[in-house]
Amino acid sequence: MSTHHPLYDTRYGGATQPVPELTTALIDQLLTHRSVRAFRPDPVSDAQLSAMIAAAQSAASSSNLQVWSVVAVRDQGLRDQLAEFAGNQAHVRQAPLQLVWLADLSRLERIAEAEGRPSAALDYLEMFLVGVVDAALAAQNAVAAAESMGLSTVYIGGMRNRPEDVARVLKLPPKTFAVFGMCVGHEDAARPASVKPRLPQSAVLHHEHYSTDQSVAVAEYNAAMARFYEAQQMDVKGTWAIHSAKRVAGPETLSGRDRLVEALKARGFALK
Ligand SMILES: Cc1cc2nc3c(=O)[nH]c(=O)nc-3n(C[C@H](O)[C@H](O)[C@H](O)COP(=O)(O)O)c2cc1C
Repeated sequence: MSTHHPLYDTRYGGATQPVPELTTALIDQLLTHRSVRAFRPDPVSDAQLSAMIAAAQSAASSSNLQVWSVVAVRDQGLRDQLAEFAGNQAHVRQAPLQLVWLADLSRLERIAEAEGRPSAALDYLEMFLVGVVDAALAAQNAVAAAESMGLSTVYIGGMRNRPEDVARVLKLPPKTFAVFGMCVGHEDAARPASVKPRLPQSAVLHHEHYSTDQSVAVAEYNAAMARFYEAQQMDVKGTWAIHSAKRVAGPETLSGRDRLVEALKARGFALK
């Protein structure tokens, strides 16, 4: 058996990697994931959207509460507004479909109300977290489904920069929150994206007990990312560790999301 596997070589950027002892068509597909930020104008069909949502709904859901929803936005005017709210990201304007994934406690509130029952537990941080986890699991299944159909995606965390504005234009009811957006479309072959390396497994996989001894793995990853930036002709100053540290230096690095608790409370999440 060869000691290298091309999908592992790109996923780990040539850094220390396990030799894959087994794989499946699904795992091979997951290993080739790339976020895409340049799209052709060709639409995503209703059939493709419906298949993505069926995959999303097939994700596990905490207590089967299914406390998530998604708003599919094709209208160019709305996409332009969402792009502006998300820090003026050109790919949000460009991608033919924007999926805005919601933590949605409002449906359960309406159900409880219709049943004449209280729903005071919805006011706790725990239930907000359940909604966010449900939305994320659903969304990632949709990404895998989209990629299996030859479509491309990129998540848009920028949708949390101005939550009230996003809620206003999408007419979101209270107790719903746009966790992230997602561009969906066909990759522009003239501007292709590459597989971005990940940390060595030794940094993220712990056996029996957590180990903080990760400096060798991080150093290896800094080198792998330096090779990646060079191959991509990206002029990135400093190592991955340095710019990741800069990303968490202070509240000013959060693109307005430092006031998320206040925005969530205004959206009807008491977060007790
Ligand atoms: C929750 C979430 C939010 C993200 N937000 C953005 C975003 O606002 N804009 C963007 O261009 N990429 C965004 N990304 C994409 C990440 O930058 C990307 O996944 C990461 O750099 C790894 O690259 P890869 O997905 O190509 O492997 C986001 C990813 C996630 C998971």
